[in-house]
Amino acid sequence: MKILVLGSGAREHAIVRSLLGEDENHDIVAAPGNAGIGREVRCVPLDATDPAAVVEYAIHQNVDLVVVGPEAPLVAGVADALRERGIAVFGPGKAAAALEGSKAFAKRIMAEAGVPTGRSTEADRLDEAIAALDEFGAPYVVKADGLAAGKGVMVTADRAAAVAHARRWLEYGPVLVEEYLDGPEVSLFLLSDGHDVLPLSPAQDYKRLLDGDAGPNTGGMGAYSPLPWLPETFVDEIVRDVALPTVRRLAAEQTPFIGLLYCGLVITPNGVRVIEFNARFGDPETQVVLARLVTPLSGLLYAAATGRLGDVPRPDFALDVAVAVVLASEGYPEAPVTGRPVTGLDAATAVPEVSILHAATDIATVRGTVGDSWATEALVATGGRVLNVVALGSDFAEARARAYEAMGRIGLEGGQYRTDIAKKVAT
Ligand code: AMP
Ligand code: GLY
Repeated sequence: MKILVLGSGAREHAIVRSLLGEDENHDIVAAPGNAGIGREVRCVPLDATDPAAVVEYAIHQNVDLVVVGPEAPLVAGVADALRERGIAVFGPGKAAAALEGSKAFAKRIMAEAGVPTGRSTEADRLDEAIAALDEFGAPYVVKADGLAAGKGVMVTADRAAAVAHARRWLEYGPVLVEEYLDGPEVSLFLLSDGHDVLPLSPAQDYKRLLDGDAGPNTGGMGAYSPLPWLPETFVDEIVRDVALPTVRRLAAEQTPFIGLLYCGLVITPNGVRVIEFNARFGDPETQVVLARLVTPLSGLLYAAATGRLGDVPRPDFALDVAVAVVLASEGYPEAPVTGRPVTGLDAATAVPEVSILHAATDIATVRGTVGDSWATEALVATGGRVLNVVALGSDFAEARARAYEAMGRIGLEGGQYRTDIAKKVAT
């Protein structure tokens, strides 16, 4: 197949790796990609959020399947435009992607589908928001409606901070005040063809910047998979109680969800609750989930894109476990310092079962010493989350040891990473 992967992060690098790992010799192109993806497949400087440009490219290049990585192209209607032209695309149309883009929409669908989620109130005015905060009590949860690049959610015991957050985001639209959900979080990804779903292996994300879940929320600082502490029936229950009702409800509204349904779940003392849906693969969870996927990814994505998931058996995963640790730039998430050289990647990948997935890198012209030698070209960090070290192992202690050995060999001035990823499951 000729496959076009849209996006430029470590998630897309993981998707490309997974496709390259098949025996099929696919012709893979990434747009726009990054320096790490560009070492493995061709990258084209296409604006992934421009539906007309993506359609034109896909038609001219005879693309068989488009895989949409991030949410922005979905919200821009890229999947709709491709589907209208008969091009197979893994990613929901704009209307169904609102499951991620609008938390109010997601809450309505969940209510209608009978999907368990926390209580919430939508507020258009500050006095409504304050009344809801006081009704639910501490800890307070305030969310901006719409995509706020991870900055729209505040969870705090500080009432004044919660009120200030609501005031700030009310300038842009309604905010949601939610009941606090207490318990471990699980990310479960399901492939959906608009009618049927197939679950992947569960993962856990570390959303806070610092060890011990301290510091600000980030896009995700690390992940591991599988989750040895989950009950065996967990995945089946989520398929039955969350994913299928949601997908069928969206189908009934003529907004079929074709793509990746990301269920962000909390296991509370009162049962599982949906904390959020996303309309795309999670980052960094995808890096650990796909590292363990045995079934060829292209077949799964193509079956979903063409409405044939009902005939496909559940994908197989390796017994090996996977750990991903994110290396972030100094100043992330508030104000990442970019442009600094990243060194030591060859030494890092020399650690057994370790791979490096790039999130925000580029090749820049330099004149000076990089690492130990004088160079004219260097790999530099171009954003907040720079790369992921992904390690496999027969158990979490082994995978963690490999990941951190490799991370220790990488140089990035001011670079930050958590040292406790998967620590609680490593015995
Ligand atoms: P979201 O963008 O909705 O995924 O929220 C980001 C993170 O904030 C989640 O992964 C949780 O860790 C936390 N969070 C969001 N909503 C709640 C809630 N109702 N109760 C507890 N924690 C929450
Ligand atoms: N890891 C969280 C997300 O992808 O939204």
